[in-house]
Amino acid sequence: MQTIITESVTVAATWINRGEVVAFPTETVYGLGADITNETAIENIFAAKGRPLDNPLIIHIHSPGQIQDVASEIPETANTFIRQFFPGPLTLILNRKETISPLVTAGLPTVGIRCPNHPVAREFLKRCNHPVAAPSANISGRPSATDWKAVHDDLKEKIRCVLKGPQSALGLESTIVDCSETPPRLLRSGAISLETLRKFVPETRPPVDTEKHVRPKSPGLKYPHYSPSALVKLCGPGYSVCEGEAGSAWIGLSSPPGKIAKTCLCKDMEEYAFRLFSFFRECDREHIKTIFCEMPPAEGIGIAIRDRLKKAAEE
Ligand code: TXA
Ligand code: MG
Repeated sequence: MQTIITESVTVAATWINRGEVVAFPTETVYGLGADITNETAIENIFAAKGRPLDNPLIIHIHSPGQIQDVASEIPETANTFIRQFFPGPLTLILNRKETISPLVTAGLPTVGIRCPNHPVAREFLKRCNHPVAAPSANISGRPSATDWKAVHDDLKEKIRCVLKGPQSALGLESTIVDCSETPPRLLRSGAISLETLRKFVPETRPPVDTEKHVRPKSPGLKYPHYSPSALVKLCGPGYSVCEGEAGSAWIGLSSPPGKIAKTCLCKDMEEYAFRLFSFFRECDREHIKTIFCEMPPAEGIGIAIRDRLKKAAEE
């Protein structure tokens, strides 16, 4: 299949409305979208990514008013988060409407809902006839795509269209909070931290430490993730001391040791998050064998970076 690359939200929405799979930019990472009412299109998302069918998709909307089209009830805690963080890098898990296809929710009674805060995404979603189901636009297990070229590298000839936009400003996937439970529980860390969520809903619980044999509440969390082809080694207090190696790379907040071929020195944690996945992909293109990653402090978005790094380092 020929993959069309366009900057036109109208062209991209026309393809979605015709039942095709379209990648689009958001402020977190690029998404791989299809019309939630078109089961063939949804199946094509799973096929293009090589994604296991038991991993549900997030539904993307252009305005909070659409939540009632996909969720059966909106508890008060969810309303508080919606008022505060929609549009933005937050996904809410709510009980789903019966009409939502089990392909989207992987048979769960709940649905993930996100309203991106990205002008191109919102204009695009407005032109789509229905909400858009979308996982991150990468081959399953690979780092999420934060620019249209990374999407194209992974998915060209497998999807109909890529809507071109700027590089995703945040660079890490959304924070996921489960509001179908009382009190709500954080399932995945992101740019909005647990501390920030608790300013508005103080009883929000931290993620459950999921053992591999227990089915996690967010099915996707059990799969390997974010991995470049290079070996990822974690450095810093409590982790290895990085000695450097010929042909290796370094990403972190402080200067690398000697013998490093390629360096990504970030001035703060926001820059670290923004550059992480694109640096992983750059390293792969340059056939780097090992990427040393300095663990950032466990605060704010640092918690989300640490979470992604730990998963990327799993063998
Ligand atoms: O920032 C993001 O969230 C990006 C952009 C494109 O919006 N999307 C994204 O999608 O990261 P994905 O599919 O790569 O990750 C979604 C995660 C998966 O771990 C999935 O299992 C979980 O959300 N999820 C989706 N629906 C769920 C539900 N009903 N209950 C629990 N977890 C759910
Ligand atoms: Mg993903």
